[in-house]
Amino acid sequence: MRGKFITFEGCEGSGKSTQIRLLSEKLTALGVDFIVTREPGGSDVAEQIRKIILDGGNDKMCDECEALLYAAARIQHLKEIVEPALAAGKLVVCDRYVDSSLAYQGAARGLGEKYVEEINSAALKDYPPDLTVFLNISPDKAFERKHGADLNDRMEKQGLEFHMKVYGGYLALLDKYPRICAVECGGTKWETSEKVFALLKDKGII
Ligand code: TYD
Repeated sequence: MRGKFITFEGCEGSGKSTQIRLLSEKLTALGVDFIVTREPGGSDVAEQIRKIILDGGNDKMCDECEALLYAAARIQHLKEIVEPALAAGKLVVCDRYVDSSLAYQGAARGLGEKYVEEINSAALKDYPPDLTVFLNISPDKAFERKHGADLNDRMEKQGLEFHMKVYGGYLALLDKYPRICAVECGGTKWETSEKVFALLKDKGII
């Protein structure tokens, strides 16, 4: 049987990596056959694209180039890593996916939903996630929690105004796609992890 595909989304500092690590521990204890991967990256070619996108020195990169590079890394990662794992019946847990492009490039960069949907049509039509966990915390609170942004990271060093637009983009996606479920993450990381686990159970993922 084909495996399930779940993605994690959220603003910078929302705690995706921590939550994915805590979930992995639970999945391992349960004996679930799963892989954890991430975007942009997750495969050799896509990791090389990731370096170009996030390089803080690449300040001449135009918004369209940025969006296309994310889409290029995505399709490579889908074909090389995600699809074979799903075909082998594994659960795929991915840190960020196409909703990041819709929120960051579509909403915050202002390229619009239509443009981003078009360049990501394969991801949206052929590989829609079974469930997307949106870790819901606004960027002002998240940056406070992680003590500021990483200034070597081209995306993270965009100002708070940019990241608030990303957050607005995510909230609009929540209304549009029933597969996206918000998990409030103002409490401890363990409390949030319990909520994520309960959600996966509720949705029949595990
Ligand atoms: P990363 O260091 O993985 O950030 P985080 O730990 O917050 O996930 O860097 C990924 C960055 O790329 C992050 O700033 C979000 C951004 N991004 C986009 O703008 N569009 C996309 O499609 C994806 C996948 C990520």
